Amino acid sequence: MKVLIVGSGGREHALAWAIAASPLCDALYCAPGNAGIAAVATCVAIGAEEVDRLVDFAREKRIDLVVVGPEAPLVLGLVDRLEAAGIAAFGPSAAAAELEGSKGYMKDLCARHGVPTAAYGRFRDPEAARAFVRAKGAPIVVKTDGLAAGKGVTVARTVEEALAAIDDAMVDGRFGEAGSEVVVEAFLSGEEVSFFALVDGSTALALASAQDHKAVGDGDTGPNTGGMGAYSPAPLLTPALQQQVMETIIAPTVRGMAAEGRPFKGVLFAGLMIDTVDGVATPQLLEFNVRFGDPECQALMLRLKSDLLPVLLAAAQGRLATQSLAWRDEAALCVVMAARGYPGDYAKNTVIAGLDAAAAVEGVTLFHAATRREGEAVLSTGGRVLGVSARAPSVAEAQRRAYAAIDRISWPEGFCRRDIGWRAVAREQGAV
Ligand code: AMP
Ligand code: GLY
Repeated sequence: MKVLIVGSGGREHALAWAIAASPLCDALYCAPGNAGIAAVATCVAIGAEEVDRLVDFAREKRIDLVVVGPEAPLVLGLVDRLEAAGIAAFGPSAAAAELEGSKGYMKDLCARHGVPTAAYGRFRDPEAARAFVRAKGAPIVVKTDGLAAGKGVTVARTVEEALAAIDDAMVDGRFGEAGSEVVVEAFLSGEEVSFFALVDGSTALALASAQDHKAVGDGDTGPNTGGMGAYSPAPLLTPALQQQVMETIIAPTVRGMAAEGRPFKGVLFAGLMIDTVDGVATPQLLEFNVRFGDPECQALMLRLKSDLLPVLLAAAQGRLATQSLAWRDEAALCVVMAARGYPGDYAKNTVIAGLDAAAAVEGVTLFHAATRREGEAVLSTGGRVLGVSARAPSVAEAQRRAYAAIDRISWPEGFCRRDIGWRAVAREQGAV
């Protein structure tokens, strides 16, 4: 098979790494890719959102499967365009990608199909949104309807904070069109986990759980980022709870979307809040994403024992019911190294050394997220730059290996959190 991966981050490196290992893969391309991806795929200088050029390239090279990493090209309709050209593509149509692209659509769909999620209201009029907040009181959560680069959610501790978030989005237009509508929803308490499933339009196949670390600083302090590290599995999500998530959240969503004429294909990424009351844990849906998480994907790929490629093709072709997946019992953990200043301003094109020594640590795999090569040197090209990942019998050992590798990397302009995996390590040590 000839395969094209779209994207340039750590998630796409992990997907390329897994697909390159498939005996079914004869040629692997990545657009646009990065310096790490170039070791396993041919990088093509086409941006992830250049839909016309991507379709032309896939046609020219007679690509058998296109795997789309990030949400932006999905929302732009890349999969629709590829399928119209007769090219199999893994990922949802633009209509199905609304599940991530519009929080209001997602909440209404959940309400119609009985998926457990926070009570909410949808507003286009700021005064109506303010009245709802005053009536409900705090804590309360204000979300822009559209994609706002992870900055559109305000978990407000006070009514004033919620009113300010409404003004920010709806009156001052801070998020542009994405904020012209807001969802205001009840605050949910508990612990967050991510769960992933492959979907082919009608059948869902469970992937695995993971836990992300969104805050930039140790101890979950500082502003939110795209994710500073992740590990899998998330011990909180027991096999029984996973089953419950499949039955109460994933299955009704898949059935509902098919019934409403927007069948979902691709990865369904459920952000969940697990609230444990009197020893009974109940999962509620916080959000859906229509793609693999980054850096969760890096941890998942390290644990996947099965060949990924035939399963992605089966998802694209509506044949998932015939597939199954095997996982390693080991844990996997990914620590993101980012450029100093991220998620604010940071310098690019700084030199990273010691990568070979880091990759030599037992159980370690380095995924590049934003790098390019200049001669022998590897340079940073973005905010999240490397995903130093490790597999081991326990999360604690995977954590030790990942940080041992990081200590061999010389990159004065970079930083990482030093506590990735702390919840799972505490659980392993019986502290929770
Ligand atoms: P979202 O993009 O919808 O996942 O929201 C981003 C983050 O805001 C989540 O990862 C949660 O930490 C938090 N959050 C979102 N919705 C709620 C809610 N209803 N209750 C409490 N926290 C929330
Ligand atoms: N790591 C969270 C995300 O990919 O959205």
